[in-house]
Amino acid sequence: MALGPALWLGPLLLASLGGSSAPASLLRRLGEHIRRFQESSVLGLSLGPGVAARPREGWLEQPLDPFNASDRRSFLQRYWISDQHWASRDGPVFLHLGGEGSLGPGSVMRGHPAALAPALGALVIGLEHRFYGLSIPAGGLDMAQLRFLSSRHALADVVSARLALSRLHNVSSSSRWVCFGGSYAGSLAAWARLKFPHLLFAAVASSAPVRAVLDFSAYNEVVSRSLTNTAIGGSPECRAAVSTAFAEVERRLRAGEEARTALRAELGACSSLGRAEDREELLGALQALVGGAVQYDGQAGAPLSVRQLCGLLLEGRRNGSRPVPYHGLRRAVQVVMHSMGQRCLSFSRAETLAQLRVTEPQVSGVGDRQWLYQTCTEFGFYVTCEDPTCPFSKLPALPSQLELCEQVFGLSTWSTVQAVAQTNSYYGGQTPVATQVLFVNGDMDPWHVLSVTQDLGPSVSALLIPNASHCLDMAPERPSDTPSLRLGRQSILQQLQTWLKMAKKSLVSGGV
Ligand SMILES: *[C@@H]1O[C@H](CO)[C@@H](O)[C@H](O)[C@H]1NC(C)=O
Ligand SMILES: *[C@@H]1O[C@H](CO)[C@@H](O)[C@H](O)[C@H]1NC(C)=O
Ligand SMILES: *[C@@H]1O[C@H](CO)[C@@H](O)[C@H](O)[C@H]1NC(C)=O
Ligand SMILES: *[C@@H]1O[C@H](CO)[C@@H](O)[C@H](O)[C@H]1NC(C)=O
Repeated sequence: MALGPALWLGPLLLASLGGSSAPASLLRRLGEHIRRFQESSVLGLSLGPGVAARPREGWLEQPLDPFNASDRRSFLQRYWISDQHWASRDGPVFLHLGGEGSLGPGSVMRGHPAALAPALGALVIGLEHRFYGLSIPAGGLDMAQLRFLSSRHALADVVSARLALSRLHNVSSSSRWVCFGGSYAGSLAAWARLKFPHLLFAAVASSAPVRAVLDFSAYNEVVSRSLTNTAIGGSPECRAAVSTAFAEVERRLRAGEEARTALRAELGACSSLGRAEDREELLGALQALVGGAVQYDGQAGAPLSVRQLCGLLLEGRRNGSRPVPYHGLRRAVQVVMHSMGQRCLSFSRAETLAQLRVTEPQVSGVGDRQWLYQTCTEFGFYVTCEDPTCPFSKLPALPSQLELCEQVFGLSTWSTVQAVAQTNSYYGGQTPVATQVLFVNGDMDPWHVLSVTQDLGPSVSALLIPNASHCLDMAPERPSDTPSLRLGRQSILQQLQTWLKMAKKSLVSGGV
């Protein structure tokens, strides 16, 4: 089953974010930037003395279509494995599921589940999601192939990987497998336990948006609220300043050619603002920048925290001069572009479309095309700002976001509406009827509103960590971690210990 790496994917390894002017979703790019930052600091650490060997990389041959036994095509799925803390063959196995991006060795080295492994003597395995990273089937990303990309396919991979890896690594049949994941992968972890409880013993689902939603306007409601949270450096003045800055950008966009040319120069924009569709994309990019500051607040590698953003927007307040929030927003754009290594802020709709249409995996290495496909065919999750309290521009509106599904994949809005409803009926939305799932969220994170934040009975528990951002519980520990975050991580460990102890007891007394 273990095969060599797929050599034809070599060019993907070289694709890097630095200098790329890819306009597609700034928010996704921010997430990727942070992930890579944390990964490289983990790898740097592993070179130091006294640190155990790097985890091993392995490949599994998986059926391309797990639901059609007569289809013999297969693809190679990448995994990472670390047995550094594995105490015995019947110790637990922590299966860290990858989501909508590549999965590196950091997935089994630091942050949870790796951080929980020593206490429980666990084997740690990271499984990259099909169609992302290096686990892209030969043949690329055209529509005929993308038919095999969905959360249901991913869950089928989890099941066959669990069986294959047990054999490959001689894991005892009495070992308990616990799924972990963050964000979409957190949903997968919960759903893996929900659908395959006989194979997967429990799940820890971090920041998991288990309810699909077409119009995700609640995202910006949380962003708006978080911008006022003084615990993370926000304030009502800061939110008001964001509003003012956006109103000013919109005013300049409407004020004619000359004002737009000036705006372009001031924001360090890559291209002209002549087209209405590009102006809408620009507003979307600026929103993602502010949303990103909230979503990734306090995380290593995040270019801009809420405190820093608010500091820029309200600069001058302390010495008595009147702050100009628009200038602060300009500075914020510069800070983010600089730290992501980008020359300019790009937002051309035509370029976005052209990139999303590329079906060779080399170019769309970050997975934008694949994730867009999953939003169109399963989840929606389109962030909008039509609520009166939303501090941003009302643009881009839902229809123009949905239009991408049509323009890139030929998928109608009607089909996306249906798909979102189907996803919720298939998995149960925010009330999945599962057992032994722990949902972990941060209340600053815009995604927590689509997750489970209250216990759903004795064995589906919810942990809502105050003042924490997206997937913060999974990040490597830092001296600056708040007491509530430390406490949250402690509770995760205790919950797992409780479940594993119960299982051992029932094993001894002859139960299952
Ligand atoms: C199953 O796979 C076979 C062989 O590739 C193919 O001929 C058939 O159309 C597939 N069935 C479905 C329902 O996709
Ligand atoms: C698997 O573990 C069992 C029990 O410890 C041992 O007897 C067996 O030799 C192992 N098999 C392999 C292939 O390592
Ligand atoms: C979280 O935020 C609240 C409200 O802003 C604040 O009162 C509290 O002290 C913060 N808690 C921690 C642990 O940072
Ligand atoms: C106050 O600070 C701003 C920004 O740092 C600066 O531009 C301005 O000149 C200062 N005003 C006074 C009165 O010191």
